Amino acid sequence: MRIVLGVGGGIAAYKAASLLRLFTESGHDVTVIPTEAATRFVGTATWEALSGHPVSNSVWDDVDKVNHVRLGHEADLIVIAPATADVLARAAAGLADDLLTGTLLMARGPVVMAPAMHTEMWQHAATRANVETLRSRGITIIEPASGRLTGADTGPGRLPEPAEIHAAALAAHAAARTAHAGGALHGKRVTISVGGTREALDPVRFLGNRSSGKQGMALAEAALAQGAHVTLVLAHAEVAPPRGCDVVRVESALQLRDAVIAALPATDVLVMAAAVADFRPAEVVATKIKKNDDGADPVLTLVRNPDVLREAVLTRDAGPAGTGDARPLVIAGFAAETGDATADPLTHARAKLARKGCDFLVLNVVGSDLVFGEDSNEVTIIGADGSESAPVRGSKRVVADAVMSHAAGLLSR
Ligand code: CTP
Repeated sequence: MRIVLGVGGGIAAYKAASLLRLFTESGHDVTVIPTEAATRFVGTATWEALSGHPVSNSVWDDVDKVNHVRLGHEADLIVIAPATADVLARAAAGLADDLLTGTLLMARGPVVMAPAMHTEMWQHAATRANVETLRSRGITIIEPASGRLTGADTGPGRLPEPAEIHAAALAAHAAARTAHAGGALHGKRVTISVGGTREALDPVRFLGNRSSGKQGMALAEAALAQGAHVTLVLAHAEVAPPRGCDVVRVESALQLRDAVIAALPATDVLVMAAAVADFRPAEVVATKIKKNDDGADPVLTLVRNPDVLREAVLTRDAGPAGTGDARPLVIAGFAAETGDATADPLTHARAKLARKGCDFLVLNVVGSDLVFGEDSNEVTIIGADGSESAPVRGSKRVVADAVMSHAAGLLSR
């Protein structure tokens, strides 16, 4: 396919050379458009030699070829790596003051941006708003990795590894193609539980967990891209839901259970991505709990919450008797496993899959470097039919595309 690789003016521009190699070595025809600032980091000669095409960042070169129109129109995929804060801002504002931003306005295919910048710039309200604007227009923005930045500082803002950008870009292209062809989930109703529940202790305190909701939101984006109608049952999350979903907000596990069960009759695919608290305080005190004057330690009594995934399976399996219309047709859960002295993560996950009775589990093998809040992931999809996918590695969106494609495959059986 024809790819336009935009390169922003950041120190990570050198990594785009490896990304370019990954694209050309997998048989794609790549035209590189660096910004003016990017050429201060890597010269045009490098891009010309590696891509085999002339390189320019001006709309005034080769005017007879009308490059600022042609390149965007002809590209099957546009990837910008690194996307600096400046490139994100100019793209969000719809500026067309160089060949790269002009090309973006002419894009017909999917656009994937891999931002890289200092943590403060990435977290600045202006950048957050630009990212949200671009995402709402259907652009895939890969979350930057955390780690060492240009100087001695560390934090989110690093360009993800070229292999990860390569995989995310091809996944976005594949998803766009499927959506174009009607979408593997076209017309299907997908319900996804997202985020972490909060179990109230009193009016000001709760028991919570570290779920960021990022994987659930990525699932929603993937389902939307495949043409589904998406309902989010949304507990507490750090990130906003993508545009185009119906959102049912909940706080506690019990509220989440009620919302999920209510959604089942109008759901074709249920994905339980929420971190549902297994326990809640036995009693919610109506007024703020005070420290005791006698200095005694408080004692909390917890009770078990329902297993929502299991209940959804039982509700489906009980079904409207004899109508053959039991919904959802596909139910999936997530399992985070470490393995222990008794069994490896896969064995634990197989046992969990059997206990839950759902159609497949997305197994996350976790170690001390927990995946909570991280932007990338590695999972294996294990099926009730005994199947086991190859490991899926990459951003949460890459994982989400694989999960939704797996669900679509089961629906079409
Ligand atoms: N889940 C649920 N209701 C709960 C707890 C979890 O529906 N009360 C769902 C989650 O959304 C997820 C899956 O079940 O899809 C995770 O299963 P769970 O048994 O909770 O796994 P762990 O949290 O890993 O717990 P453990 O291994 O300790 O059993």
